[in-house]
Order: sequence, then structure tokens, then C-alpha cells
Amino acid sequence: MASSPFTVSQERKIVTELPGPKSKEMHARRLKTVSRGAGTLADIYMDHGSGAILVDVDGNQIIDLGCGIGVTTIGHAHPAIAAAASAQANKLTHTLFTVTPYENYLLVAEKLAEITPGDFEKHSILVNSGAEAVENAVKIARKYTGRRAIAALDHAFHGRTNLTMAMTYRPWPERAGMGPFPGEIYSVPTSYPFRDPEGMTGVEAAERTIDYITTHIGATELAALFVEPIQGDGGIVIPAEGFFETLSAFCTENGIVFVSDEIQAGIARSGAWYAIEHHNVVPDLVTSAKGIAGGFPLAAVTGRAEIMDAVQPGGIGGTFGGNPVSTAAALAVFDLIESENLIEEAKRVERAFFARIGDWAERFSVVGEVRGKGAMFGVELVHPGTTKPNPEALSAVIAHATSNGVIVLDAGSWDSVLRFLPSVVISEELIDDAATVIEQALQALEP
Ligand SMILES: Cc1ncc(COP(=O)(O)O)c(C=O)c1O
Repeated sequence: MASSPFTVSQERKIVTELPGPKSKEMHARRLKTVSRGAGTLADIYMDHGSGAILVDVDGNQIIDLGCGIGVTTIGHAHPAIAAAASAQANKLTHTLFTVTPYENYLLVAEKLAEITPGDFEKHSILVNSGAEAVENAVKIARKYTGRRAIAALDHAFHGRTNLTMAMTYRPWPERAGMGPFPGEIYSVPTSYPFRDPEGMTGVEAAERTIDYITTHIGATELAALFVEPIQGDGGIVIPAEGFFETLSAFCTENGIVFVSDEIQAGIARSGAWYAIEHHNVVPDLVTSAKGIAGGFPLAAVTGRAEIMDAVQPGGIGGTFGGNPVSTAAALAVFDLIESENLIEEAKRVERAFFARIGDWAERFSVVGEVRGKGAMFGVELVHPGTTKPNPEALSAVIAHATSNGVIVLDAGSWDSVLRFLPSVVISEELIDDAATVIEQALQALEP
């Protein structure tokens, strides 16, 4: 890295038990005022952060392998983001772009047109959250095609609004008891190399998906197919080579809008601006969110101009979408990714993780597979000697890690995948220290 933006030493330091006394006091207050539906992974209340370290209210320095689920890709509280956001906050905080526009919105749309895959005219809409981006992509695809059906892959996560819950695979805890959900939404088979029949290729998995679409939905009825190039909440599932190419060709042949949901994997995290670039595929629409604005709420749908422009003026939008402060932060994020070579840093993180934890499946009997791309890693936990998911092992590992100052995430349809989404600025020393803590938990699970 060119210069150090860190205001906190990049090391783990535990000075109280975790959660500490101040966290416990805040948690007691929380139980009286906050819905239990907003469940938390670790009841450790954070005060500030820098780079890959979070500092809690008791002064503990914690290694963050979660980034608030993939958001602070460029590191916590980067001074350049703070400066850009505060300068904008002092200048103009809101007009609503669809009432009276401003340039930041244009600059973000121009940059998105440049960095998303595809050499054609692209237009964008800016919104507030990932789920809102997905919802808008559904509306746009339906309007463009005049069709109703929407397909999402098994193990997908597309959000928690009513429409995106219908596109999200697992019932618990995201959907249970909160329906009914909209119709004409279909879950179709994906490619999950660890769980597919041995030797199944990406092309064969795509043929299975296409057969399902043809027999359950009808290709001519399908408006859009949504894919995550790397499934995040699904458990860092990376489809086999040829899967997306075959599906994308099928979509093109049949007038189906191919949507790459890059909300978790996009914006440099996978070692490319967008993770679909790791395949020979150009999506029609791309959704971005999470890492796009360094923690400020912003999301986007970007894609072929003729598809994006199918919607009548006033058909898409919203009060806060593309807010001046969030867009200022996003412009600073784009600058940092380029000036600090953060796509290369994501590749460095990938190499460092594989070098440190790549042999866990050989060393620990509860580890079925270690997989990853860029700064996205999944460790699938199983019952020894089988591929049977092991959610109890995941709970034990997460409990040990959090109580020792390492934030890690859960994932997977069976809640059995340990997920790492660290900042791309994380050092090899922190990766090593975090891995050592997690290894203690894995060792304790050995029969
Ligand atoms: C791939 C994907 N799509 C959509 C969403 C929903 O984004 P948000 O939580 O910002 O609504 C997420 C969030 O985790 C995601 O990972």
C-alpha cells in the first residue's frame, strides 16, 4: 500500500472478557428497545475501527473478518471516505435526484458504466440497499421483456424485502412465517461442486438448470435469471467452470435478461471489479451495493441502456436513492480502489488465505472444503468422514472466535459454512493470528 491510512494499530488486543462490561450493559439496554428480529452474531458493541481492526466500547481490538457482511472492503473508517462525505455533508445533503439533480449522481453512473462488464452503452439507477436494487432489476426486466417469471438459483440470497425474500432460498431464518410471497418466482438448480454428483461439470450443471427452467417455467415465460457469481450467504459457493457461460448463452438465445447480483462479490472484493469477470460472460444487468460507498447506504442497477430505459419516467426511484453524501463516498471508494490497487490487494488476500488455511480439509476432520476467491472465503464444516452439514461445529467455531476477538460470519443453507469477508487491506499477520484462533476451535472438535 502506498501510505498507511490506519489510525489504530493493526493487531488483536484483548483487554477484557468478550463481550466486556460496557458491551454487556448496552446489550441489557438493547433488549428493552430493539426488536429481537434484528438478531446479532456477537453482542460486542463497537466504538471505532480502522483498516481490518474494530475497537469495541471496552477498548478491545478485534480482527474483523466480516466487514459488516462485505461492506467495508477498503477498510474501516478510511480517512479519504470520511473527508469526501463530510465535505459533501457541509455542502448539500439532499434534493432528490428526480426532483432537482446534482452531479455526484452522474459521476457515479458514469463510473459504473465504465467498470461494469460489457462494451455497450449502459445506464444506471441508484437506490439505497441491495434488496432495493434487486427489486428494481426485477421491475426493469419484467417491463423490458413483457414477461412475469423470475428465476433465482438454489442457495441464493437476494434480500429481505417481500419480493427478494421470495428469491432467497433458505426458509430459516429469512422467510419463516413472513409470507405470503409474490408469485412467479422460481428457485432453479445451481452448480455447487462440493455437493453435486462427483465429476459433474459446470456445463452439465447448467444443462440441469436449463432443463428445470424449460420443464417448470418455460423459457419464453422467463423475464430474468438472477445469479450471484459467488454466492455469499449461500456459503461462498463458486459454480464450476462453464456454468455461467452456458446459462448466459441460453438466456441470450431465449430473450431472458441475465442479471449478475454483485451486491456481495462486486466492487473489487473478488479480485476483479465484478466477480462475473472471472467467467467469459457479459451480464445484461448488474446490481451493486455493500462495498460501493465504504459503509454509506448506496446501491445500483446498471445495464444495457435499452433494458434500463424500458421503464417509463417515474417508474423507478425513491426519496433517498443516490443521496449526495453516499455518492460522494462512492466516488472516493472508486478512487481508492484505483489509486491503492485494491483489486490486486484482493488477489493478495486470496493467496494469503490459501497459503495459511488451504490445508484445513486435510488437517481437520470437520472441514469438508476450503474455497474462496479474492477476499471471500468459505470453510464448509461437515460431520467427520461425510459431507453431512455440521451446524453445531459452526456455532462452536464462531463462539470461540468471537470470544477471542475474531469476527467471522456464518453462511450456507444448512448453516454450516464459516465465511470470511475481510477487508482487502488486511495484513498477512492478522490473517495468521485469526487463523490460529480458529484452528484452536477446529482442533477442539477433533474426535
Ligand atoms: C447477493 C446479495 N444480494 C442482495 C443482498 C441484499 O442487500 P441489502 O442487505 O443491502 O438489502 C445481499 C445482502 O447480503 C446479498 O449478499
